[in-house]
Amino acid sequence: MAAPTIGIHDICFATTGYVLDLAELAGHRGVPVQKYQRGLGQDSMSVPAEDEDIVTLAAAAAAPILATHGHDEIRTVLVATETGVDQSKAAGLYLLSLLDLPSSIRVVELKQACYSGTAAIQFAAAMVAREPGSRVLVIATDIARYDLDTAAEATQGAAAVAMLISADPAMLQLSPISGVYARDISDFWRPNHRSTPVVAGKESIAAYHDAVAGAWRDFHARGGRKFGDFAAHCYHQPFTQMAVKAHRELTRLFAAGAESEAAVLAGTLYNRKIGNCYTASCYLGLVSLLDHSGDLSGCPVAVVSYGSGCVAEVLELYPVPGYRARLRTELHRRTMTERTTVSYAEYRHLWNIQPPTDGSDYLLPDQRSGPFRLAAISGNRRIYERRRNAGSTKKSA
Ligand code: COA
Repeated sequence: MAAPTIGIHDICFATTGYVLDLAELAGHRGVPVQKYQRGLGQDSMSVPAEDEDIVTLAAAAAAPILATHGHDEIRTVLVATETGVDQSKAAGLYLLSLLDLPSSIRVVELKQACYSGTAAIQFAAAMVAREPGSRVLVIATDIARYDLDTAAEATQGAAAVAMLISADPAMLQLSPISGVYARDISDFWRPNHRSTPVVAGKESIAAYHDAVAGAWRDFHARGGRKFGDFAAHCYHQPFTQMAVKAHRELTRLFAAGAESEAAVLAGTLYNRKIGNCYTASCYLGLVSLLDHSGDLSGCPVAVVSYGSGCVAEVLELYPVPGYRARLRTELHRRTMTERTTVSYAEYRHLWNIQPPTDGSDYLLPDQRSGPFRLAAISGNRRIYERRRNAGSTKKSA
């Protein structure tokens, strides 16, 4: 019996309720705005409200998928994040209540900097291969937060991308061939005592270049198709210009003479307005590519994942004929445009708010109109709620 094709059956993203125009940040930092817009390739960044976190973002990204497909076949929830809200409990467990998920399900959280969403997809694909009638809900969700008044500040952002992994996927088939690379370095990391990462910015760029080249070499060694044969390339984007730089360097190494920046740009359009979203970044790039391109049915698309520390992986995906009818482009556009623009002062205020670190109870103000919110911390427990206007996650007829 032939093995079933496996891949992404549905995909949706969510971001925060607030956004900061980087022209505001540039003005206050005394930096020409072109440095952010052209040098980094970033126009604005999503800013979390006080009552938003990776769980509310994850729930908001997954809810439309569950409303369409229900949860009957979902046997596993994998949440990939480096913005964990607890050292022990998996963030995905909060989704059981928020999204009415059944109890006959396994739930776990994965961490490896910005890479673990890709690991989650690979683990999910292996689970589906073993039990082809089952599905896995993968959610990459992160809030990229750097210290104020640093070079990295302009590369903050936040988003979650939810993906339903299944056999005979309706949107993207995942090739069994991938290329991987790992190395033990310290280019970006967040020790337990810190709420922001330690970053060696320039070293992290060099490490990214080396790692993705290593992953492509492995991909080719395993029989993967040539770099130049891909119709489009989606990259992990700590800032969108990183994708352009990486693509140039990889083209030089593997497809000299084949200038193809157009193959990258459609996959950067959401990212340049949302900012970095760590684990979700290359999948936000994938959604951006699909939402902003013509018909890519049957064309090979590369997803290039990188997580500091470091791990890189190249995936090969094929959009399935008919996928465009299933895109959530209109919802995604609304998600972007319905964000409320905050001033520099409001952004700084939000950034500086820290929930108590001594375990005392804390009520969060109701700040935005997203479907889910963190309402309180009480007795050391995080109390989430679904807003009344939040629609059902029960399968629509
Ligand atoms: N107009 C246009 N471009 C400008 C400019 C201007 N006025 N001023 C500067 N630039 C360009 C620079 O030339 C540079 O581009 P280049 O690398 O193509 O030459 C780019 O803007 C960034 O400026 P630079 O001064 O080199 O870097 P920085 O000190 O602002 O730091 C990062 C940039 C990415 C290192 C920093 O934001 C960071 O640490 N980010 C977090 C870590 C990260 O994202 N790592 C990536 C791999 S995971």
